[in-house]
Amino acid sequence: MENSINTKPRRIAICGKGGVGKTSLSTMMVKIFAEMQNLKILAVDADPAVGLAMALGMKVEKTVDDIRNKLISQVKAGNSYDKSEVLDLLDYELFDALAESSNVALLAIGRPETEGCYCRVNDLLKDIIESLSHGFDIVLIDGEAGVEQINRRVLSSVDDLILISDTSLKGIQVVSTIQHVARDNNAVTAGSIGLVLNRVRSEDEVQTILNSISMNLLGWIPEDEIIHTYDFQGIPLTKMPEDTPSLAVVRSIVAAMNV
Ligand SMILES: Nc1ncnc2c1ncn2[C@@H]1O[C@H](COP(=O)(O)OP(=O)(O)OP(=O)(O)O)[C@@H](O)[C@H]1O
Ligand SMILES: [Mg+2]
Repeated sequence: MENSINTKPRRIAICGKGGVGKTSLSTMMVKIFAEMQNLKILAVDADPAVGLAMALGMKVEKTVDDIRNKLISQVKAGNSYDKSEVLDLLDYELFDALAESSNVALLAIGRPETEGCYCRVNDLLKDIIESLSHGFDIVLIDGEAGVEQINRRVLSSVDDLILISDTSLKGIQVVSTIQHVARDNNAVTAGSIGLVLNRVRSEDEVQTILNSISMNLLGWIPEDEIIHTYDFQGIPLTKMPEDTPSLAVVRSIVAAMNV
């Protein structure tokens, strides 16, 4: 993959409660962006369970957490480095951790920090992810729960925050909370926060939910047998048929983003 000279990637984060469809949506979005041949995409799996790799049909050999642990154990073993040596080492390791397939690269963050605060190491890693991201046009982050974790561990700010929920009250409460936190912390640079409803069974459900919250609906994805079956069988979701209903919804969401 060539190094792009683009210095301002569009940074998109997908957040929501556990199990609501973050990875499915992220995968469909990566698939759609990847079809735009001129774009270089960095997919970031910020979920400790590392599910994005399987959904994309890619293999993760090393996570950011592995790199962090390696550095910490070397420091504990008494190896002293100066700052530029550490930066070079982390830079090399991070490039090495990228899984690549055509115009998509995947970086897995791994577990959140282990005990003890190695804040300096975390900050260094975040800086390096930040500079790595400048070689891409799109950085798409499949988040853990909220944008604040992403800001702390991956990138200090994102351009588009896509909140996803199923139709459950709990899921909706979680996205409303994330929206508030993101606004309070100015976590979203361009201020674009939108909602995707997933596993919808009827349009009435969408209306009822929209009447109860103040959020900008980007689209709603129906309950989709293909997503369910592919996940069940461990088939990468990127291989889903073109006429899968959810894919059409995600295509229109992506089109509206004007990338
Ligand atoms: N529209 C849909 N129709 C049917 N099943 C779906 C749909 N969206 C997601 N699923 C199923 O729901 C489950 C959770 O989806 P997914 O892994 O995308 O959620 P997640 O938010 O990434 O979960 P986690 O928080 O565990 O990472 C999967 O088994 C997936 O197949
Ligand atoms: Mg997931």
